[in-house]
Amino acid sequence: MSHHTPLDLQNVVKQTSDTPHHARDLPAGGEGAPYKLVRLANGAYSVHSSAERETFHPVIGPAAEAEALYIGQTGIRERLGGLQSGEEFVVWDVGLGAAANVLSLLRATAQTRSKLRVLSFDKTTEPAWFALRHHEELGYLGGYTDFLERVLKTEKEPEGDAWEGLHFVNGEQRLRWSLRVADFPALLRLKPKMEPPHLILFDAFSPARNPDMWTLGLFQNLRGFLADSRPCLMPTYSRSTMFRVTLLLAGFFVGKGRATGEKEETTIASNCREQIAFPLDHAWLERAARSTSAEPLREPIYRQQRLAPETWEQLKAHPQFA
Ligand SMILES: C[S@@+](CC[C@H](N)C(=O)[O-])C[C@H]1O[C@@H](n2cnc3c(N)ncnc32)[C@H](O)[C@@H]1O
Repeated sequence: MSHHTPLDLQNVVKQTSDTPHHARDLPAGGEGAPYKLVRLANGAYSVHSSAERETFHPVIGPAAEAEALYIGQTGIRERLGGLQSGEEFVVWDVGLGAAANVLSLLRATAQTRSKLRVLSFDKTTEPAWFALRHHEELGYLGGYTDFLERVLKTEKEPEGDAWEGLHFVNGEQRLRWSLRVADFPALLRLKPKMEPPHLILFDAFSPARNPDMWTLGLFQNLRGFLADSRPCLMPTYSRSTMFRVTLLLAGFFVGKGRATGEKEETTIASNCREQIAFPLDHAWLERAARSTSAEPLREPIYRQQRLAPETWEQLKAHPQFA
């Protein structure tokens, strides 16, 4: 969801001049406002970050993009309904941001009798507070503003309690939702105890703006949190060769993901080969060998490079291409 259309392609309708909810020393709007509402061509509103100069869901809007990328193609309703009674379905929401992904997921699964455990991660809660203040224009928060506000307030609570999560009744669903406000790559390096996910909503800003969230090391660490006995899906908006090589080298199986309004193709990764409907094939591998932007980021600094000879050898040896 996210990402990545320059602001000048969009119709900026509103610069907020309100003071953030609990905001520390943020500028009070106008040109310096850290977040703005933008109106997309289809009339939907989305959140724009001034620091990254990126809009969170730049083409079809927050709810439609979440549906296309994370809900429709993951079969989440069926997977939730198919769990053993009492078993929690665990979702990692990486980049809570303005909460469009997670709230779209809650809305889409509310009528499935199930137990959902959500672990949200972000280094800041500011876009989520911003979204709460603009819930009327954004629309997707409808019915969930209270849930989100209560979860955001746990930022100030003692670590243990906050991490256990708050309990909610979401229609037919029992929900346990926690938030960890931290630098995500650094958090993973600490290897805290966290429930392995069935689904990861991975939604950072673009690699050029947010390279620390796209390194090989990060995805290797993330792969280390998955359980062999628990098939996990991770859809992501990027379809770049560099990102797909990164996922393969980190030990994921990788396939083509469904189109969203923004991209004619996305990417879906899993720890289980059987979960991938359209795996990348040898034709893709050959294109990767010719690409001028395929080598994973090993440092959190964006650059584009051809595959190094050792990377090519590792790629060819991946079980997906055996
Ligand atoms: C595109 S926005 C996410 C949008 C969100 N998923 C939604 O549905 O509204 C990317 C988010 O990633 C977060 N982020 C970027 N770098 C991060 C890091 N190093 N650690 C944790 N969060 C990070 C940003 O603060 C931002 O909220």
